[in-house]
Amino acid sequence: MNNSYNNDINDLVAIENYRMMIELSEEIFHDFKNILATISGLAQLSMIKTQSEELKGYLSRINEATCDFRDTLNKYYSYTLGDTEKKQEPHVLYTIVDEALEMIKYRLHEPCGFGRELNLNLKIRSNAKVFCNKYDLKQCFLNILMNAIDSMEEKGGILTVDVYNNETNDFIIVDIMDTGTGIPEELMDKLFKARFTTKKNGTGLGLNIAKNCVENHGGKLKISSKLNEGTTVQISLPIYSDGYSIQ
Ligand SMILES: Nc1ncnc2c1ncn2[C@@H]1O[C@H](COP(=O)(O)OP(=O)(O)OP(=O)(O)O)[C@@H](O)[C@H]1O
Ligand SMILES: [Mg+2]
Repeated sequence: MNNSYNNDINDLVAIENYRMMIELSEEIFHDFKNILATISGLAQLSMIKTQSEELKGYLSRINEATCDFRDTLNKYYSYTLGDTEKKQEPHVLYTIVDEALEMIKYRLHEPCGFGRELNLNLKIRSNAKVFCNKYDLKQCFLNILMNAIDSMEEKGGILTVDVYNNETNDFIIVDIMDTGTGIPEELMDKLFKARFTTKKNGTGLGLNIAKNCVENHGGKLKISSKLNEGTTVQISLPIYSDGYSIQ
């Protein structure tokens, strides 16, 4: 009797905590959206005022990043309301890869921290479509591209992105290769565990999210690496054709 009374009280406290958390999230979402609107508005205004094409490019990326942040907030807000449905549509995959690359281009082409160069070698050899949630896949490519660039931060190097179809034309493949630090053999089976990180400020969620995302789209994500030589992440996704995914 006493036990069941305590359980009821605990349940009520949990429900009340949950309700307060939702309310707090709503306020935070609202405040973030206002802040984002200010950043985006000022970036757009500065784009009109500046004569410099280079600056216009940077400002446009700030604007896009705020849009992505707003989308992220909306996504999590929907989750708190119990909406877990994800919108999926056919998209030409390389355009999503391209958009992700646009977001990280500020870390390329210019001398990196130690005065060495980071260069991009982009090969688009397929314009196949994939039935997907564009937002999730873009985040997935971003996570992998960020890792590749992080690994070359000190020495510089070459980031190669190759998009092509497999031999049987039923899967589209994206290889993301870096010439960075590589990954020690003993860490290879820990990479996809949530919160595994070797970085000072890493959350260790990037690869975990990326792998889940690819698998949720019926694809596969593989990593191969050689210490001090570099890493290749290979993503393969089923090609969408005439209303169905070939699998
Ligand atoms: N391209 C790569 N080159 C070298 N090491 C890598 C590469 N990609 C991943 N790693 C290793 O895998 C670990 C996990 O990567 P993951 O993206 O999941 O998390 P993270 O980059 O540490 O943090 P974040 O959540 O901010 O992305 C990294 O800390 C790093 O040790
Ligand atoms: Mg990462």
